[in-house]
Amino acid sequence: MSKINTDTNEESTMLEIDNLHVSADDTGILRGIDLDVDGGELHAIMGPNGSGKSTLAKALAGHEAYEIDEGDVTYKGKDLLELEADDRAHEGVFLAFQYPVEIPGVTQMTFLRTALNSIREANGKDPMSAGEFLELAREKLDELDLPEDMLKRSLNEGFSGGEKKRNEIFQMAVLQPELCLLDETDSGLDIDALQIVADGINRMREDEDRSMVLITHYERILEYVEPDHVHVMLGGQIAKSGGPELAEKLEEKGYDWIEEETGIQRSPQQAEGALTS
Ligand SMILES: Nc1ncnc2c1ncn2[C@@H]1O[C@H](COP(=O)(O)OP(=O)(O)OP(=O)(O)O)[C@@H](O)[C@H]1O
Ligand SMILES: [Mg+2]
Repeated sequence: MSKINTDTNEESTMLEIDNLHVSADDTGILRGIDLDVDGGELHAIMGPNGSGKSTLAKALAGHEAYEIDEGDVTYKGKDLLELEADDRAHEGVFLAFQYPVEIPGVTQMTFLRTALNSIREANGKDPMSAGEFLELAREKLDELDLPEDMLKRSLNEGFSGGEKKRNEIFQMAVLQPELCLLDETDSGLDIDALQIVADGINRMREDEDRSMVLITHYERILEYVEPDHVHVMLGGQIAKSGGPELAEKLEEKGYDWIEEETGIQRSPQQAEGALTS
């Protein structure tokens, strides 16, 4: 059951990004992103290295390194940019990192149960006991073919690249967020793990209200997880949008044709050219 905005029955836009400009270290990265994600939709974002995909995901999650210079983001009818990162998580925003961080000394069990109970508390629910949590975690670990001893290990420490990625999906499955931002969760996975991750994502999609933004370099994951919309980011802008066929075309033809067609260059540095010293 959703707790907020149950009074609005209109066509549900979960996330509305309007003319978003973001910088880091005084360098402009995102240069006017417009994107609407409706409840239940999956949007794939593709684009060359350095085009700003992770910046978009991290800015939405509230990462402190990213400065919002201009624009608005509305999430479930609220001003997302007003909320601290914690509050965004409490409101159901989840980011699976491109490079999951290792936290030595904090077990996955402690981390995840604390995160889950913090979200539950913020939404007026009782905390989950250790026993209840373990039961839930076991079920989700099993679905993702991850061993139970992962709960006892320090978060991501010594996990293989693929285990870290599967672990992000495990965390998402436990936390049951409403807006899932998945940043290259398919990168570095072997063929079987890719299928497992795709199944995990598809299970989460069974909830009709849940929305996903999936950043990827590869069309392959989109064969398993069918996107409603595909966007191409170039130079901090969404240069082109389409359906799944756009991803297939990119796989075949790369990005040059979009640069030529739109006049947008692939990195902000290139695009700003003479303006920057
Ligand atoms: N915290 C930061 N400080 C300075 N520059 C940054 C910061 N974060 C990102 N950038 C720069 O912004 C640009 C976009 O980076 P971003 O990580 O968003 O790209 P990306 O599209 O996710 O690329 P990739 O496909 O390689 O993951 C890059 O030139 C990057 O060096
Ligand atoms: Mg990235």
